[in-house]
Amino acid sequence: MEDAACIVESMGLDEKLALLSGRDFWHMNGVPSAGLDAVMLTDGPHGLRKQVGKGDHLGLNESVPATCFPPACLMASSWDEDAVGAVGEAIGVECCQEDVAMLLGPGVNIKRSPLCGRNFEYYSEDPLLAGRLAAAFIKGVQGKGVATSLKHFAANNQETLRLSSSSLVDERTLREVYLRAFEIAVKEARPASLMCSYNMINGTYSSDNAWLLTKVLRDEWGFEGFVVTDWGAMSDIVKAIKAGCDLEMPGPSPDNAGLIRKALEEGRLSEADIDKCVTRLVHFLIKSSHTKKAPYDEDGHHQMARRMASSSFVLLENDGTLPLKADGRYSLIGSLAHEPRYQGAGSSKINPTKLDRIDEALTARGVQYSYAPGYDVHSSGTDEDLIREAKAVASASDVVILVLGLPSGYESEGFDRSRLDLPEGQLRLLDALKEVGRPLVVLIEAGGPVLLPFRKEVSSLLFCYLGGQALGTALADVIFGDLSPSGHLAESFPLSIEDTPAYGSFATGERNVEYREALLVGYKWYDHMGLDVAYPFGHGLSYTSFHLDAVRLSKAEGPVVYASCDITNTGDCDGDALIQVYVGKADSQVFRPVRSLAGFRKLHLLKGQKRTVLVKLDPRAFQYWDFKTASYEVEEGEYQVSVGFSSRDLVEEKSLYLNGTVCKPSAAPAVPRGRKPVFEDLFQGPLPLPTPKEGLTLNSTVDEILATEAGAEVLGPIVKASEEAMASLDPEEAAMMKAALHDQPLRGLAMGGVFSAISVLDQIHQLEAK
Ligand code: BGC
Repeated sequence: MEDAACIVESMGLDEKLALLSGRDFWHMNGVPSAGLDAVMLTDGPHGLRKQVGKGDHLGLNESVPATCFPPACLMASSWDEDAVGAVGEAIGVECCQEDVAMLLGPGVNIKRSPLCGRNFEYYSEDPLLAGRLAAAFIKGVQGKGVATSLKHFAANNQETLRLSSSSLVDERTLREVYLRAFEIAVKEARPASLMCSYNMINGTYSSDNAWLLTKVLRDEWGFEGFVVTDWGAMSDIVKAIKAGCDLEMPGPSPDNAGLIRKALEEGRLSEADIDKCVTRLVHFLIKSSHTKKAPYDEDGHHQMARRMASSSFVLLENDGTLPLKADGRYSLIGSLAHEPRYQGAGSSKINPTKLDRIDEALTARGVQYSYAPGYDVHSSGTDEDLIREAKAVASASDVVILVLGLPSGYESEGFDRSRLDLPEGQLRLLDALKEVGRPLVVLIEAGGPVLLPFRKEVSSLLFCYLGGQALGTALADVIFGDLSPSGHLAESFPLSIEDTPAYGSFATGERNVEYREALLVGYKWYDHMGLDVAYPFGHGLSYTSFHLDAVRLSKAEGPVVYASCDITNTGDCDGDALIQVYVGKADSQVFRPVRSLAGFRKLHLLKGQKRTVLVKLDPRAFQYWDFKTASYEVEEGEYQVSVGFSSRDLVEEKSLYLNGTVCKPSAAPAVPRGRKPVFEDLFQGPLPLPTPKEGLTLNSTVDEILATEAGAEVLGPIVKASEEAMASLDPEEAAMMKAALHDQPLRGLAMGGVFSAISVLDQIHQLEAK
């Protein structure tokens, strides 16, 4: 930081203020007097989305071609830090080639509900898994000299009202669940930047949150990089600077320089406050100026996307029909085989360098098959003609390969899913194909869990998530047995939406979003409530089988415990095994999950091979956040360490005695199994109200403003013009844009300097005063 401090000393106030807001949609300003150029920051995360024409943050306008790797939902199912790191490296190389200084990602928000429309961009319901994979990805990208921005910090777990809602989370849950993945990634991989989220946490917008951005992030975790706002997430620039939010994107802002000058004059801000932010930004610019442009091997990256996908698909069921023989007579049914869903919509949408469709991949392998679409991929309705045709094609084959999935309009950044089931027309098709009586291999493309009531009635079920640009060849590799599937679920698959942890308190449409399930997110909820699931967290089958035994634990002398076990490939082919280790404390006096993931390790085993595996356990698995000591503590006593193949397939358990770090834990008392935690008790204090309702402010949403007479008169025409511009969009994009438009705070609507939010608000106030 010394060089940066030196440059900052020589900078005038104008130059400093210019640096605090973006130059345009995708660039931050440079410092011309110090020879530092403006640099480009752009999406991510599963590939590069560099727009050279008109910029937007919703994936609407095209970007330069780049490798579309599998999105995080699929990559996470690999549970493979090395593979995820290698993808990060490849994306870093593509960023260098395109002169991009920072990739906006990875996204490490926790999957609180399977209904979150943007879950495809996130890794897991478990913070340890999410944090470790994010750390690997960051190290990969940054190893190539390209910065990353870990997002969205924090508690941004739904799309409904994402720009204006307030996540109400008790501090222990916040730290142990929603901040934990960020903490792991910050400490292990030192991302250059964090992106603060749109939402409020307990009543304070993330950009203004000094507790979050300074106390926790910098003072406790030692973060040395800079914080950038999500696009349009700057709430109050003066509070934000004091809180440790360094850069507003996009820019320029017609209002902020004036607001800062006024605060300086009134003594609400000092130049030293500004210098802290400016120094961090200059430091980043200095580092970015060393990035080297290098060409990359497009085909090599495509092959890497293929390997990443093929080692991540999750085999949920198999009666031995898979792998398929090369010389069978097949039918391939489902229009998603030809028009695949391989990534999600929104700011992460990549323009792929090529696309491997499933039907073309089978043709290229010389597979004999007949194809029928079976349903219209864009609608959820039933098409009897297509079903009749599909049945005829299926009857003439020995095995049916059926591709189902969620249409793109079902899930996206910008809105949440309303249901968990597959479209009715696809389910009707499946019923009709069952009547044909041939073995039925079902492949599913979706960004998150779907209800699978038919799961025991089909021969094989492979969950493909969104496979990236090589999904077709990657799928062919797996279903024809070139390699054994080795993906495992990074999230639970529930039996119904009513069973899910946040049911009733997720995306209710209220601005206050109460995190009532507290620590019991994902499998921790199902285990605590004693609920059956369709597939548990960590589940995934293989073409081979593994035997696990001889679990041993290291002595718990320090904070770190190691578990080891022997693992043998007992089946007929080579394959990858995933060892998962969970920790619980059956007699805990403190509220805690039945068990939590404490470590994992994926390894390759040749047929018949036996290996000993060592897994380092996360010390936090034995700890809880104690609000009295304001630190992590250990409750004294016996802990159970279980090792197995999923959260519900635990093969061996060993116990371990740990000395306590406090005489009497101050955390909430244990909650009996089957009973819900009491949110009000955990929250400790009154629940904050969403933004106060006294008159219109820059933080009032478009809908709140339009509801007033003066607001409608001033803002109405601006909103109308924006809506008219949406007429040419396809329905899914228009839905996303509309949601974003109406719950957008006024200051966010003005993002990128399209108008001055302050003067629009002044006009409204003047009209109101008349
Ligand atoms: C998204 C971010 C993204 C940014 C820029 C926002 O709407 O939430 O994830 O990086 O736009 O496109």
